[in-house]
Amino acid sequence: MAKNFQLPLTHRPRRLRRQHSRRSLVAETVLRVEDLIAPLFVVDGKGAPEPIGSMPGVSRFSIADLVKECAELHALGIPAVALFPKLDARLKDANGTQALNKRTLVLRAVRAVKAAVPELTVITDVALDPYTSHGHDGVLNAAQDDVDNDRTVAILCRMAVMQADAGVDFVAPSDMMDGRVGAIRKALDAAGHTGTGIIAYSAKYNSAYYGPFRDAVGSAKAAGTRLLSKATYQMDPANRREAVREVQLDIAEGADIVMVKPAGLYLDIIRDVRNSTRVPVAAYQISGEYAQIQAAAQLGWLDLARCRDESLLAIKRAGADMILTYFAKEVAKQLKDKR
Ligand code: PBG
Repeated sequence: MAKNFQLPLTHRPRRLRRQHSRRSLVAETVLRVEDLIAPLFVVDGKGAPEPIGSMPGVSRFSIADLVKECAELHALGIPAVALFPKLDARLKDANGTQALNKRTLVLRAVRAVKAAVPELTVITDVALDPYTSHGHDGVLNAAQDDVDNDRTVAILCRMAVMQADAGVDFVAPSDMMDGRVGAIRKALDAAGHTGTGIIAYSAKYNSAYYGPFRDAVGSAKAAGTRLLSKATYQMDPANRREAVREVQLDIAEGADIVMVKPAGLYLDIIRDVRNSTRVPVAAYQISGEYAQIQAAAQLGWLDLARCRDESLLAIKRAGADMILTYFAKEVAKQLKDKR
């Protein structure tokens, strides 16, 4: 072979990849701290943070520790948190009665966080699963074989108004009942909360990857059994067109932001939704996605930081404007160190 062997190429895409600075000039997607929403779990009492076994690095916080965590996240530049309460099992019943208690855990948590870190955007879930003994997102029908859509929506509306009264910036219906976004918008407006937004879990799939979250909030009973499967309200993972339909309905009903959940296994859905609407799109990298990366890293099979960053970049590249992720704090710290 000749010493100066050279192919007669006009195009050499590798020219753009020579060193980091060149690559950064042409990077099409950049993950920013402003893209991140941190989901946080809160529990009653004054105890130390309770680690969640299936979610290494994630704990349930007392309200006092939650407030401290929120202050740290805010200082790191994270714009928003999504709060999830873990209730004592003794407080749960078939109707999720505690969801409408004015002193319920999540409302006390919202007031404490908003008082301490008013600038931080606070999001709360509107769904009954942390409150029901059966773990469903709503109340059951008379035959006890399905969730009753319309009765559930009526309860969710009251829940959303109470959350708005407590000062949340966005309510996030994650229940997948039909018509709930419109009903909640009306209820919020009737209560004078015209400035409280709705992040709709519009395309929420019936995923097996919610397992660790159900450990975290103690709603696991609903997983797996025929009677208590969430398949009659969460979307079938087989469906793609239907996600766009759900999104369009929620936007027509008044959603300010629409969400796709899970994220990493549903990048095609994120892209479809991004292309089909002009409203901001959120994606939720859920507990099982987080647990998979953590578990493989613990076994020494994957590099934690690189897989974490790649998973989030992929979600953003697919079209998400914001990402709920249990990695939020670690990524924010790393982005800060880089600067
Ligand atoms: C339920 C709810 C779920 C999650 C957020 N809200 C799980 C479920 O539908 O059982 C899952 C989040 C995660 O897995 O990280 N309203």
